[in-house]
Amino acid sequence: HPLTGIVHAAGVLEDAVVTAQTPEGLAGVWAAKATAAANLHEATREMRLGMFVVFSSAAATLGSPGQANYAAANAYCDALMRSRRAEGRAGLSVGWGMWQVAGGMAAGLSDTDVARLVRFGVKAMSVEHGMALLDAAHRHGHPHPVALDLDPRTLAAHPADTRPSLLRGLATPTPTGRPTASAGARPADLAGRLAALPPSDRHHTLVRLIREQAANVLGHHTDSLTTGGTFKELGFDSLTAVELRNTLSAATGLRLPSGLVFDYPDADALAEHLGGQLAPEDGTPAGQEATDPLLRELAQLENALSSAPVEHIDADAVTARLESLLSKWKAVGASSGSTSAKEQLQVATTDQVLDFIDKELGV
Ligand SMILES: NC(=O)c1ccc[n+]([C@@H]2O[C@H](COP(=O)([O-])OP(=O)(O)OC[C@H]3O[C@@H](n4cnc5c(N)ncnc54)[C@H](OP(=O)(O)O)[C@@H]3O)[C@@H](O)[C@H]2O)c1
Repeated sequence: HPLTGIVHAAGVLEDAVVTAQTPEGLAGVWAAKATAAANLHEATREMRLGMFVVFSSAAATLGSPGQANYAAANAYCDALMRSRRAEGRAGLSVGWGMWQVAGGMAAGLSDTDVARLVRFGVKAMSVEHGMALLDAAHRHGHPHPVALDLDPRTLAAHPADTRPSLLRGLATPTPTGRPTASAGARPADLAGRLAALPPSDRHHTLVRLIREQAANVLGHHTDSLTTGGTFKELGFDSLTAVELRNTLSAATGLRLPSGLVFDYPDADALAEHLGGQLAPEDGTPAGQEATDPLLRELAQLENALSSAPVEHIDADAVTARLESLLSKWKAVGASSGSTSAKEQLQVATTDQVLDFIDKELGV
């Protein structure tokens, strides 16, 4: 019987955070996915195929922690199928989410990996569901659909800036309209709440927040983390450490380093560190307490702007709003009596004038 169709479902995983990726790891993952797809494409160039399907991964479209090599190899397949279709050939690359199969790639996922996916609303697809989606993808006709079982409500429970950017628009609010525990309070609220507490309660509140977030990341109940133990002993690796850093950054509004949980190895030490930054007990420069929450709000705004899907946004309207905000803010500064540059120059020494010119020109 002549060859009339191809289904390329080969693949291997070699997960590691970006800094631990190796050329060998990439080569193995690339060979099974991308090279194999390219070889099949070349070998059948002269044939009239009715079907050329690649089992790709949603990791290539949405990103997936620890899977940069796998995402790249799948993205190659997605592009190859688009290119085949542009040439009028058969081509379909399905970006699959997690399958519920005994064995296979999903079997290599740890409980923490599964918990991470489930936390973002991705559920494992049954074989029947997957097959029905494959038929639907075939009928739909798009060269690169993404097929995953996603619960938008669970997704909506996460702070917007921790959701995969492509899924932000899909998230629906929780039925109560209130953020869930994992969405947490707004960073400025947290700093304000802490400042209003006595120091020992601040520490306690932060330890509880850290344990909740750590349990979330590891997919455990918070109660199981109430006893001490270092993050390493609790099972944190480089990937989950970065994830905990991200959720704590979102909850506190602080810019935190990726090695945070290794620099401050347990919840107590980390709470001490975060407490010092969020609600310093003494030595705070005058005005700093009022300024810090504002700067944190601005950092949030900066994050939102840098991760906004610019192609779907009225950029001129946003720019106009920002400019109007800035000019109002400058007017507030002028009317509050802060000395203007002109006034400062009138009473400055020669050195001060030269210093001012250097700063203004960014020399
Ligand atoms: N399972 C999931 O949740 C999931 C999610 C998204 C996408 N996918 C994609 O769906 C496909 C099937 O996944 P699966 O879970 O069924 O994985 P699987 O059971 O591990 O199957 C992968 C197959 O690829 C073959 N293979 C590996 N390296 C190869 C190479 N260099 N040349 C030829 N064959 C090679 C393996 O053969 P041997 O057994 O002989 O090594 C195995 O039969 C994969 O492409 C995967 O990326 C799966």
